[in-house]
Amino acid sequence: SKGNHRHYMLKEIYEQPVVVAQTLKSYLQRMEDRVSLPIPDFDLGTIRRVTIVACGTSYYAGMVAKYWIEQFARVPVDIDVASEFRYRAPVMEDGGLMIVISQSGETADTLAALRYARAEGQKIAAVVNVPTSTMAREADLLLPTHAGPEIGVASTKAFTCQLAVLAAFAANLARAKGRLDAKAEKELVRHLSEAPAALNGALAYDESIEDMAHLVAGARDVLYLGRGPDYPLALEGALKLKEISYIHAEGYAAGEMKHGPIALIDDKVPVIVLAPSGPLFEKTVSNMQEVQARGGKVILISDYDGVQAAGEGCIATITMPKVHPLIAPMIYAVPVQLLAYHVAVAKGTDVDQPRNLAKSVTVE
Ligand code: F6R
Repeated sequence: SKGNHRHYMLKEIYEQPVVVAQTLKSYLQRMEDRVSLPIPDFDLGTIRRVTIVACGTSYYAGMVAKYWIEQFARVPVDIDVASEFRYRAPVMEDGGLMIVISQSGETADTLAALRYARAEGQKIAAVVNVPTSTMAREADLLLPTHAGPEIGVASTKAFTCQLAVLAAFAANLARAKGRLDAKAEKELVRHLSEAPAALNGALAYDESIEDMAHLVAGARDVLYLGRGPDYPLALEGALKLKEISYIHAEGYAAGEMKHGPIALIDDKVPVIVLAPSGPLFEKTVSNMQEVQARGGKVILISDYDGVQAAGEGCIATITMPKVHPLIAPMIYAVPVQLLAYHVAVAKGTDVDQPRNLAKSVTVE
């Protein structure tokens, strides 16, 4: 049931602190400050390359994972959307691991990609939310998310749980590769353990986001900008808005703006900038200022320090808890979900059953 929430989507957004904690619990050994996969005897040390394949929101979780795996484990990562991957005759070398990511575990293109990789001699890991699904059954290494049933067509809690699992996976791979000493592992576990509380902190901004929905609801086009592991969050924010409010939205890597999309900027295109404090903050803010210099109306999502440093001149700001850059993609999912939700409600669309969309895409 929806409980006291108006839509399943809102209920599921609010479940995130609990289901992410639940998911992390099965991957973190808190007392020992260790990250552990549910199947410890799977030898990650021999993996030389990772290929991630998924669709839609699950694909964006995979994009974030690429940053983590390459940064922590120094293992090269290829990533593709399943519908492209399966028809392009991808080259798969020995010692490769394919990771499929799927809420349903039934998406036709992703399943076909899994079977292609199997035939090419790859090991298969599956990050799935439905433990009885076809992908779960066909994988060598099952990495379940514990989000519980997701009813709203727009994926929310499955996404943040996928990120939790993928962060734990990246840490495990890094350890297996000898790239994570005990101290670094302890730090990582600490940051990951802070995610549920930070998700709660992010939800506390719900009403303010509802109050700013009118800034977006009347727009024809909306841009989302981010860098590094927050670039996929810009793509995810744009997808959520498109799906449930039917407003045209695009996500861009902030540094790509000047290579074309900046031509779109005028005072009618709201630009949502995701810029948590961290090594990429200044770079993102300078892209944001280029937008503002052309009359662009910016909504900045950052933490208190970021909003203090760069919030001036924005039409609105959204203040997230200050978190380690590792978990920022998880936390920044919340404001982009809530913004899409409140804009859709303001426009009166069918939030849980958007037109033309199905929850599980079992035909290609
Ligand atoms: C977005 C959304 C879709 C799914 C995609 C993959 O809100 O729901 O983009 O993420 O269809 O579905 P799964 O994860 O079940 O393979």
